[in-house]
Amino acid sequence: MAETRIALVTGANRGIGFEIVRQLERLGVVTVLSARDPVKAQAAADKLLSEGIEVGVVPIDVDSDESCAAGLKQVEELFGGRLDILVNNAGIMQDGPSTGTTAMNVSIETIAHTFNTNVLGPLRLIQRAIPLMQKNNYGRIVNMSSALGQLAEMGGNWPAYRLSKASINVLTRVFAAEIGPGNIKINSMHPGWVQTDMGGANAERPVDQGAETAVWLATLPDDGPTGGFFKDKKPMAW
Ligand SMILES: NC(=O)c1ccc[n+]([C@@H]2O[C@H](COP(=O)([O-])OP(=O)(O)OC[C@H]3O[C@@H](n4cnc5c(N)ncnc54)[C@H](OP(=O)(O)O)[C@@H]3O)[C@@H](O)[C@H]2O)c1
Repeated sequence: MAETRIALVTGANRGIGFEIVRQLERLGVVTVLSARDPVKAQAAADKLLSEGIEVGVVPIDVDSDESCAAGLKQVEELFGGRLDILVNNAGIMQDGPSTGTTAMNVSIETIAHTFNTNVLGPLRLIQRAIPLMQKNNYGRIVNMSSALGQLAEMGGNWPAYRLSKASINVLTRVFAAEIGPGNIKINSMHPGWVQTDMGGANAERPVDQGAETAVWLATLPDDGPTGGFFKDKKPMAW
């Protein structure tokens, strides 16, 4: 019988993260629902419980070193030092076209805040998760990126968001190179344009479809890819 895996999903109180938790649990992965606001995290967990899905809750504000350290420590204690899967889903977008933000007028504050959440948050957690994964020679790290961070198709607008998502792809490549080809795999992905608070009501995809590639990367077989960028379970250009 396959071993039960332990997963942590950030920013999981709503949107794609919430759906990733739901889908991982349906596959039998013991999943920790993490959110920066403990009240929202518990409300999300209660919603899943009403569907018959019981999840642990760990508050993590990915903007904060202390919160990331405390959250990972809590996971370690809950599961006897284990963490098999980390989904870096939490993210913000403060500079979409409707805000009138361009590369010419974006504030350093917007860039710094976006970078802290979308890049340094994942970095804080990956640095702490890999030693736990190495203990069991098993790890799957999923970095939620975006087509807006894709250099191959780079355009204007969303300057802070684009910078942050290009940078999370750099994290994926650098960690993959340093970890090497073993059984700890780290990949980036684009979920498509998804109907969430961030994606808006006019987005193309329902949230369950937006979560699918994350769940696939989170449960890759031992001969699965590492250091890649994926959409719909297929490689996409950087
Ligand atoms: N929707 C799309 O079309 C789309 C497309 C490409 C990529 N993505 C990426 O997919 C991921 C999920 O997006 P989504 O559409 O589900 O967005 P969403 O509905 O806006 O949800 C974002 C989640 O991130 C959390 N979050 C924000 N800052 C955080 C922090 N400092 N610490 C912990 N959690 C934090 C939010 O928590 P609060 O409720 O506390 O704010 C919320 O749970 C993001 O990384 C996004 O960039 C989305």
